[in-house]
Amino acid sequence: MTRVFSGIQPTGHLTLGNYLGAMRRWAEVDQHQADSLFCVVDLHALTVDHDPARVRRLSRQAATLLLAAGLDPELCTVFVQSHVDEHARLSYLMECVATDGEMRRMIQYKEKAVRERERGGSVRLSLLTYPALMAADILAYGTDEVPVGDDQTQHVELARDLAVRFNQRYGHTFVVPRATPPKVASRVMNLQVPTSKMGKSDDSGQGVVYLLDEPDVVRKKIMRAVTDSGTDVVYDREARPGVANLLEILAACEGRDPEGLSGAYQSYGALKKDTAEAVVELLRPVQERHKELCADPGHVDGVLRAGARRARDMARPRVDAAYRAIGLLPAG
Ligand code: TYM
Repeated sequence: MTRVFSGIQPTGHLTLGNYLGAMRRWAEVDQHQADSLFCVVDLHALTVDHDPARVRRLSRQAATLLLAAGLDPELCTVFVQSHVDEHARLSYLMECVATDGEMRRMIQYKEKAVRERERGGSVRLSLLTYPALMAADILAYGTDEVPVGDDQTQHVELARDLAVRFNQRYGHTFVVPRATPPKVASRVMNLQVPTSKMGKSDDSGQGVVYLLDEPDVVRKKIMRAVTDSGTDVVYDREARPGVANLLEILAACEGRDPEGLSGAYQSYGALKKDTAEAVVELLRPVQERHKELCADPGHVDGVLRAGARRARDMARPRVDAAYRAIGLLPAG
């Protein structure tokens, strides 16, 4: 059976981008078709300036939202990265296989390093080695497929390279994974700056739809989305990024194709209105389940405990094998 692994960082409130680019497919497709693991990657959240209490709060919220989005612990494994030591253990071996040049070439490292410096902070070493930990997350489980948005495909490519290199040097240990981005909405853009990704850490939040935004907030944000000069509704990501983004969001909500959808609209106003309603309807059941789950935190804790146990059992033999293969003396 195909093994699927993916993760989400508790660095901010989860967004419509996270949902359309990743979470929705995990719930609707992956957990039904594959042996799947989904992980709240809290160790990754420590690679930038953070408040410990907030990371804890956001980790629990992310786990709750994964369940609210439809992940079913009977069908897949949901857990928190720091609960399974194998991630950190294998990450070190990945650092011994990767080069600093590979790490420095990562687009996300370059972007985040600039952001940290602009905020007056320094760049943590772990931000540079972030992809080694991500490769460990993926490779520890013998993962075949990694369902992620567009922005993570470079990291998955690096994990592939590291798997191949490790196998060649030290003997076959890892499955070589591949990224599986969605066909539509693989990069949902910021509603105010449609040339930038809709990310969790947008300072004003106006360009970002959060999964827990009230329906009226969602409507307001989408109705105020920046559109392009011109009036006709055409799907052109280069020339008309604002309109293309709305078309992609609507198409993803309705399971349609953005190009085909563009013919149905004569004005930006009508497109925005339908997009806003489609997103409100998309999020409604997730928000309702989230509310129910918040009333029962013990349930979420139980799911995470069982998930960590299962994940540990899956990861340990392969990580132990990697330790032996690379030349470390078994503990006896
Ligand atoms: P993160 O937490 O930034 O995002 C989680 C998932 O959501 C996708 N995503 C988007 N998709 C479309 N449009 C957007 N605007 C958008 N924003 C986010 C991301 O592509 C991702 O699939 N490094 C990862 C977390 C990670 C991971 C892993 C993922 C750590 N280890 C191992 C897969 C496998 C990250 O920061 O995702």
